[in-house]
Amino acid sequence: MELIPATEFSLEELAEAYNETRIDYIIPMPMTVERLRDYISVYDVELSCSCAAVRGDEILGIGMLGVRQGRGWITRLGVLPSGRRQGVGSHLMAFLLDAARQRGLPVVWLEVIEGNNPAHELFNGLNFRETRELIVARRPPNFRALAPGELAARPRVRNVRTLDHEATLRLLENRRDEPNWLNQNESLQKVADLSSLVIETVDGGQGWVTFKTSLLRLTRIVVDVLAGDPAAVTTAALQTLHEFFPTQDAIAENIPAKAAIWPGFQDAGYFDAFRRIEMVRPMPPLERDEQDFG
Ligand SMILES: CC(C)(COP(=O)(O)OP(=O)(O)OC[C@H]1O[C@@H](n2cnc3c(N)ncnc32)[C@H](O)[C@@H]1OP(=O)(O)O)[C@@H](O)C(=O)NCCC(=O)NCCS
Repeated sequence: MELIPATEFSLEELAEAYNETRIDYIIPMPMTVERLRDYISVYDVELSCSCAAVRGDEILGIGMLGVRQGRGWITRLGVLPSGRRQGVGSHLMAFLLDAARQRGLPVVWLEVIEGNNPAHELFNGLNFRETRELIVARRPPNFRALAPGELAARPRVRNVRTLDHEATLRLLENRRDEPNWLNQNESLQKVADLSSLVIETVDGGQGWVTFKTSLLRLTRIVVDVLAGDPAAVTTAALQTLHEFFPTQDAIAENIPAKAAIWPGFQDAGYFDAFRRIEMVRPMPPLERDEQDFG
C-alpha cells in the first residue's frame, strides 16, 4: 500500500473513492464532483496535505486536511469496507497529522458522528480528546396554521431587518459564539448569497439569524442573541425566518448541544437529527531538523 498526495488525483477520482468508502456509512452523504469542489473551497481543504491510500490500481481509502490560521481539520476520512482493520485508516491519519505538523499547525480538529465506534476508537487511540457535542438539527416545512394558544404564546417581534450578503458578513464579524469549523467565518465567507434577519422583540430581545436559501432548503443557519433570553430570542428569530420561507426544509449544522440557544431551536420546530462529537489534538512542535524549509 502506498500513500499518494491527493493532488495526484482528479476530483472525479476522489469523489468516487469517497463514495465507495462511505457505502455503508451511518448517515448517507453522497458526494458529486461539484459538491467536492465546493467543499474543498468552503472548508479550506488543501489537497497537497490530503492523501489517498492505493494498492495497485485501487484507491483503498482517502483522508483530507483543512488548513486555517493556527489550526488544521481532518475530514473525509474513509477506507473501503473490504480494506478495513488492516491499518489503512491509521496510515492515512499518520499522513494527515504529519502534514499538519509540517505546516506548523499547533492543533488539529475533527468530528465523529455519535455512534461511529470504529472512527471514535481510532481517534481516541491517536490522542484526540473530546471537546463538545454538536447537534445537526432539521425542521420540516410547516404548512399547518398555528392554533390560537400557540399564537398567543409566541414572543412578539417588533422590528425585523433583512440584510444582504455583504451586510451579513459584517454582522458575522462580531459574533460571540464559538463556532465549529463548518460554521466558522472562514467557511461562511466563501458561501454565495448568504442573508440574515435581525430582529427585536417587544420585551427588548435582540438577535439575528443567517441563512442561505434554495428552492427546497434553508442552510447555513447561524443564530446569535445580543440581548434577552437566548432561547426565546432564538425562537423568535427562527419563527420569523420560517414565516418568510414557509415551504423550505431547514438544516442547522453543529449547534453546540450545551448552547443556551438550542432549546430555542426546538421551540421553533427543529429536531435533533444526529450528533457529532468534536475532538481536538495538540500537535507537538517540529524538531529543528524536521522543519521543511522548502
Ligand atoms: C474509521 C475507519 C476510517 C478506520 O479505518 P481502518 O483502516 O479500519 O482503521 P485501522 O485498521 O487503521 O484501525 C486503527 C484503529 O481504529 C480502531 N478501529 C478500527 N475499526 C474498528 C472497529 N470496527 N471497532 C473498534 N475499533 C476499531 C481500533 O482502535 C484500531 O486499532 P487496532 O486495530 O489496533 O485495534 C473505517 O472504519 C471507515 O472508513 N469507516 C467508514 C467511514 C468513517 O467512519 N470515516 C470516519 C468519519 S469521522
